[in-house]
Formats: sequence, structure tokens, C-alpha cells
Amino acid sequence: MCVCPHEGRMIGTFRGVCALLWILSLGECKISEFQVTCVISEDCVLPCTFTPTRNVLVRWYKQEVLVHSFLPSEGQQGTDGKVLLFKDQVAHGNASLLLQHSSTADRGRYTCRVNSTVDGDGSIVIVRVEAPISDLIMSVTSERHVLCGTKGVYPDPSMQWA
Ligand SMILES: *[C@@H]1O[C@H](CO)[C@@H](O)[C@H](O)[C@H]1NC(C)=O
Ligand SMILES: *[C@@H]1O[C@H](CO)[C@@H](O)[C@H](O)[C@H]1NC(C)=O
Repeated sequence: MCVCPHEGRMIGTFRGVCALLWILSLGECKISEFQVTCVISEDCVLPCTFTPTRNVLVRWYKQEVLVHSFLPSEGQQGTDGKVLLFKDQVAHGNASLLLQHSSTADRGRYTCRVNSTVDGDGSIVIVRVEAPISDLIMSVTSERHVLCGTKGVYPDPSMQWA
């Protein structure tokens, strides 16, 4: 699937281009990438699936720093309590991470790695955290001024008068 399909027929300079495309496609097609948008102060799930294997070691990294690891025979470990795995799901190949009470500090690139032997196991998850507009405050301050505003919205909202 990830092998350059015409490699056998390529000659000369084309071989170099093909090799480059092949390397790029390796980086792209090996692991699935997801974008997850979490609502601030709520829990959200970062997906990761793998081919179930006996006693697989699951590791989650945030910007290449280990934030959680799990080995079924040893139980849960290496966490600040902010993130959890669904332990009972791991045996079924589901190593999704539960990010609890998300905050803007949780934004970033997460990587799920499992030591199964199957290519494409694991995932890359880009996490965004947003605080949607929950209410709009509108008030008339004087005869000629109407004030419109909202609070606690992230990222900063854009406003338009019509
Ligand atoms: C993994 O398990 C969690 C918790 O039960 C669930 O929310 C999620 O959808 C599951 N993911 C997959 C791919 O089955
Ligand atoms: C994964 O790593 C753990 C801990 O090092 C080991 O016990 C387990 O056998 C490994 N599993 C595979 C499929 O290599």
C-alpha cells in the first residue's frame, strides 16, 4: 500500500523522485492522524487503535514527552491523573486516551505508540481546545451606545454588527 507502485519501471533520475515520494508516503500512510477539538473544562477522547496482541505496551506522548504508559500486566502508571486509558478496552485494541477537564494548556500534538508488530498501529492526534460562546451580553449604555460582549471565549471571537 505504501510502496511506490512504479518503482520497478523507473530508471535514472526518476528513481530518485520515486524514492523521495516513497519516503514521504511512508511518513504519511503509516500512522493515522486525527484532529480533536476539546471543549474547555470538559473531557475528550483522543483516538488510538491497534491490532490486539497479548500484553501490548501502550505509550502516549505529548510533544514527544511521555504522559502515560500502560502495560496490562502492571496496571496503570506514569500519569498525573489528567489522562487515563480505558483499561478494559485495551484488550480489544482500543488505546484511546481520556483527557479529563481539558484546558488550553492541553493543546498540542499527541502520539500513541504500541509495541505490536503491525504497521499502522497507533495514532497522531492534534488537540485543539476551544471555549465556545455560551452567552452574549447586550446592553444599551446611553441613548447612542449599544454594548455587545461575551466572556470566557477561546480563541478570541470575531464580532460583526449588522
Ligand atoms: C474506545 O473506548 C472508548 C471508551 O469506551 C470509546 O469512547 C471509544 O469510542 C472507543 N474507540 C473505538 C475506536 O472503539
Ligand atoms: C511490549 O513490551 C512489553 C514490555 O517491555 C513486553 O512485555 C511485551 O512482550 C511487548 N509486546 C510485544 C508484542 O512485543
